[in-house]
Amino acid sequence: METKAKLYIETYGCQMNVADSEVVVSILKEKGYEITEDIQMADVILVNTCSIRENAEQRVWGRLDVFRQIKKKKPELTVGVIGCMAERLKEKLIEEEKTVDIVVGPDAYRDLPNLLENAESGHKGVNVILSREETYADISPVRLDKNHISAFVSIMRGCNNMCSYCIVPYVRGAERSRDPKSIINEVTELLEKGYKEVTLIGQNVDSYNWKDEKNEKVSFSQLLEMVALINPALRVRFSTSHPKDLSDDVLHTMSKHPNICKHIHLPAQSGSTRVLELMKRGYTREWYLDRIKAIKIILPDCSISTDLMTGFSGETEEDHSETLSLMRQVIYDFAYMFKYSERPNTFASRHLKDDILESIKTRRLTEIIDLQNELSAKSKKEDLGKTFEVLVEGYSKKSKDYLYGRTSQNKVVVFPRKNYNIGDYVQVEIIDCTSATLIGESVI
Ligand code: SAH
Ligand code: SF4
Ligand code: F3S
Repeated sequence: METKAKLYIETYGCQMNVADSEVVVSILKEKGYEITEDIQMADVILVNTCSIRENAEQRVWGRLDVFRQIKKKKPELTVGVIGCMAERLKEKLIEEEKTVDIVVGPDAYRDLPNLLENAESGHKGVNVILSREETYADISPVRLDKNHISAFVSIMRGCNNMCSYCIVPYVRGAERSRDPKSIINEVTELLEKGYKEVTLIGQNVDSYNWKDEKNEKVSFSQLLEMVALINPALRVRFSTSHPKDLSDDVLHTMSKHPNICKHIHLPAQSGSTRVLELMKRGYTREWYLDRIKAIKIILPDCSISTDLMTGFSGETEEDHSETLSLMRQVIYDFAYMFKYSERPNTFASRHLKDDILESIKTRRLTEIIDLQNELSAKSKKEDLGKTFEVLVEGYSKKSKDYLYGRTSQNKVVVFPRKNYNIGDYVQVEIIDCTSATLIGESVI
């Protein structure tokens, strides 16, 4: 019997890449590849990459060093770089790192079997063609998550926003929405397999806009409702919302369906209208705060998280203090915070100077992280004494006697296992908290 070629895949970057790796595995399994979690056993190593900040790319270069060592001992090994960094650097990747055999961009994964076959016979290959149509709608992703409780479902690809600092539109191409029928099918299949939660993902889910042959439209709030109606026991999340496009319609749909989780990730980037304009974000501080107000009125128990960037071109101390004041005003439950990293060929790299000293970027970043730690602690303290429905996702890292899961608000809760199992919905009263987690006791 012929043994199957073994594929090892490593994923960096955002949820889109996590979902794409599952598409890639599906495409290759179909062609007879078998997944391995042991890199030493691999016949093919694929690394799905991110270009969002320079350090994201540095990490991948570091991994390529490791793969080179493995290949020294095993010359027949094929190494492929896929994803956003593949798209950005194209054949340069092969020129600079001889270990690399194939380079495949995010819209060219259907060509992987062919490129791998050629690589086996010694021909290196590059396919970085971006598409206006590709959504991999017909491919049923092979889930790589451990617990089989929660899955990402990609509803759109690409981005049309062209924020001045951002590489995504260049490496992911133009925005396109996926056929809602294929989304519903995928979610239904997940439910049948025992999944309890789906997260609908895209770079800007609010601009989801499907038109069918008869020109009938499906908006994001309609899609959200369709997914929520599949089964009331299935939790529905989504990410990322864009402040310029987040509509009251979406908020009302969330309020109507208890199974749509009450959490919105609304990246602000900066609290200064002047900086937002330079970033080409398409909204002002006032507009952003109006959206926050709408969330707080329509969804009083909704948590809010964000992305923030410090040290963008020309950011003054005053701009920075406006970011701090925005944070205090919103009281974010959680935030991802970054130093601005100039990306080649973006609008900002061509027209704006990366003129904030590294030491100042770092100091400002520390200030926003410190403030966010305070706000996160405050948000957790407010949960003490409250009872939440927690979807159990797994065992606590520290002890098998404890389970962990998340509330609708996306906060992590750890509590004693008793007779509960992974996948259960449990009512948990919050009795304590650490900096990152809520600690509770099941009730009833
Ligand atoms: N589509 C999402 C974000 C995708 S990228 C949105 O518009 O909100 C995730 C986050 O990375 C961004 O929100 C931003 O905070 C950060 N980011 C993007 N480009 C960056 C850059 N050049 N330097 C530093 N951080 C960046
Ligand atoms: Fe990048 Fe802006 Fe698109 Fe988000 S909305 S992916 S930040 S261009
Ligand atoms: Fe990175 Fe690409 Fe996502 S650049 S953040 S992996 S879309």
